[in-house]
Amino acid sequence: MDYYNRKMLLKSTGRYIAPWLVKNDDLAQWMDTSDEWIRQRTGIEQRYWVPEDGDIGASDLGLEASKIALERAGWTPEDIDLIIFGTLSPDMHFPGSGCLLQHKLGLDTTPALDIRQQCSAFLYGLTTADAFIRSGHANRILFVGAEVHSPALVKADRGRDVTVIFGDGAGAACLEGVETDEPVGVISSVLHSQGEFARSLMMPLPASRITEEDVREGRHDAYMDGRNIFKTAVRKLPEVANEALEKAGLSIDDIDIIIPHQANLRINQAVQKSMNIPDGKMYNNIHRYGNMTAASIPVALDEAIEEKLVDKGSTVLFLGLGAGLTWGGVIYRHF
Ligand code: UT7
Repeated sequence: MDYYNRKMLLKSTGRYIAPWLVKNDDLAQWMDTSDEWIRQRTGIEQRYWVPEDGDIGASDLGLEASKIALERAGWTPEDIDLIIFGTLSPDMHFPGSGCLLQHKLGLDTTPALDIRQQCSAFLYGLTTADAFIRSGHANRILFVGAEVHSPALVKADRGRDVTVIFGDGAGAACLEGVETDEPVGVISSVLHSQGEFARSLMMPLPASRITEEDVREGRHDAYMDGRNIFKTAVRKLPEVANEALEKAGLSIDDIDIIIPHQANLRINQAVQKSMNIPDGKMYNNIHRYGNMTAASIPVALDEAIEEKLVDKGSTVLFLGLGAGLTWGGVIYRHF
């Protein structure tokens, strides 16, 4: 096998969404919010959560999405050389959910790698998988992005800015090395992080340094400086899209579809406007699911494939920004 000609094929995808449908009006029973506010400010109409009395973790949702992706790829779990698991809401603080999924798939010692790149998990995961495949370290990789946010969301007024946004779900992708001279697979990838702004979107606990004050102050709740993240995303996403386009030697007109992270419909609309992207080229499904962090892009990709918006020959631009801060853009040509 010639490593220089090895390209990463997105062989199949799968999604699994938590079962409990929570509409905006349902949230208004627990906190001072309204369907009108949530729709206007975010575009979200509903989200799905795991049942309150259940015992469902990110690895469980990831398992269901993986089974679908594996079946579509025609792979058995034994075909997997590496699992890459993206989540900010793992089943346990440690070990990572990738190891739990590995066992639930019935595997013995297949390696599993957890990545904690939040809303950028798919971008970092795809790039990592591409590097493993091109270097010959692995040829068949299962990427899973899965989140179970709802048990940790504060269902009261003090948490309303965060709670109304997030949903639970999982997306999976089977990624395979294929030898070809064609300009396909990952065409370019640009990744960034900026820890300077770690505190603008964070959940400080659990952590290795816990003070009584941390616990008293409820620092196991997520904190988000929404306005700042919003403004940063609207500025950084077009910037990184242009970096990825330049690296690929492409223009925005060469892109068939943009699959962005689903944090806020208004963010994606602002990016679309600032880059002059025609309607129909930007995929949005936040109205159905809310923000599912690491699961958002792979679930959107799965739906876009189902709707034939991504087909053989399609050039796709994936974009996202979230906690870290982390952000990036990946251009992938399907084959
Ligand atoms: O995926 C990870 C990355 N995260 C993001 O990209 C999130 C980016 N940020 C956002 O999506 C938006 O900033 C939010 C949706 C979080 C908030 O929308 P906003 O338009 O920026 O609202 P705001 O924070 O400026 O708040 C406006 C008002 C405030 O009231 P006052 O101070 O004007 O009286 C808030 O207290 O809306 C209030 N508010 C709410 N009202 C009803 C905040 N949350 C809610 C709520 N329901 N859930």
